[in-house]
Amino acid sequence: MENRLSPRDEFLVFGSPAIEEAEIEEVVATLRSGWIGTGPRVAQFEADFARYKGVDQAVAVNSCTAALHLSILAAGIGPGDEVITTPLTFAATVNAIIHAGATPVLADVDPHTMNIDPERVAERITSRTRAILPVHFAGHPCDMDALGALSAEHGLKLIEDCAHAIETEYRGKKAGTFGDFGCFSFYVTKNVVTGEGGMVLTASAEDAARVKVLALHGMSQDAWKRFGDEGFKHYEVVFSGFKYNMTDIQAALGIHQLARVEDNWITRRRLWSLYDKAFADLPVTLPAEIEAGSRHSYHLYTIRVDPARTGLTRDRFLDEMTARNIGVGVHYLSVAEHPYYQDEFGWRPEDWPEAMKIGHETVSLPLSPNLTDADVQDVVEAVEGVVDAPGHANQ
Ligand SMILES: Cc1ncc(COP(=O)(O)O)c(C=O)c1O
Repeated sequence: MENRLSPRDEFLVFGSPAIEEAEIEEVVATLRSGWIGTGPRVAQFEADFARYKGVDQAVAVNSCTAALHLSILAAGIGPGDEVITTPLTFAATVNAIIHAGATPVLADVDPHTMNIDPERVAERITSRTRAILPVHFAGHPCDMDALGALSAEHGLKLIEDCAHAIETEYRGKKAGTFGDFGCFSFYVTKNVVTGEGGMVLTASAEDAARVKVLALHGMSQDAWKRFGDEGFKHYEVVFSGFKYNMTDIQAALGIHQLARVEDNWITRRRLWSLYDKAFADLPVTLPAEIEAGSRHSYHLYTIRVDPARTGLTRDRFLDEMTARNIGVGVHYLSVAEHPYYQDEFGWRPEDWPEAMKIGHETVSLPLSPNLTDADVQDVVEAVEGVVDAPGHANQ
């Protein structure tokens, strides 16, 4: 159907993954191999990811949600304990704390970086606080010096939500290697994709072993070793664990996605600077610059649409972009906006005003490495058209 607002006749999908022949062939080879569960390809993906991050070990799981849940449990955190996190995140971050039986406590964000503000964290520390759980929002690193100092001073665990931050570095050190645990996502829109998938980094061999056992029913031996050619081995259940293991089909995708992670990063960095240049004179707020010596993962390109400056609401902007065949996202409505948390914890969005305001103004634009220069031009023209169009009158 012809769209009179847009030269595009095809909808530009937000966050479409860049899948290539190498991973398609590896998935097919996995299917033909007779071993599609947790096996040699998961072991290879873990080793490749550990090497990419410059650490000794990585444990693959089936989502970042699982990675967060198991990290919190392996840290010995549970009922009666508090974990401080950001209100500007996906529900998974807060839900993982709740799944572990602990209580989430929110500390507002810095409006510039959109990351958890260490000063607000300090205000929320109580005798029950056991951990800080920062999210490197959109791939911009959190202030890990300040958060590390707070956790050291108060004897708190530090668990990094690196769902957006595979390539992120803070002052030369890689995201996910600062705290006790680093948790990664390979969900379909992420910078490395396995369909669903996640990874836990931890410097402690004991914690890694605990996460591994918890990820597979609390069994002391994983299935790959039990049914392999080394002879039958009985398992022992040592915890009431979970079914969070990654499969070789997922890892087959991940191995080749990870091999291209830096090439894709360079592509997205270029798209990012095209957007920065194109939008420099528009009355919208662009993503914060990264400090010298640190590294953004360029996961989400978010702009802020302030009705006072643009004459239109963020939701109107979303509708207008969609009408122009451009897929957009919202990362995120503050978690305190959701009814479950309001009912359960008595949260009110206005108690975290910076996150609430960002949640009402933010829009994520397409940034997949699949985008052609013509796609970028379409996005730019659509944004310009929506922002410049007369007669918005704050709708
Ligand atoms: C900040 C953040 N944390 C956690 C998650 C959960 O990741 P997964 O979907 O792999 O469980 C996501 C996923 O979108 C996320 O964006």
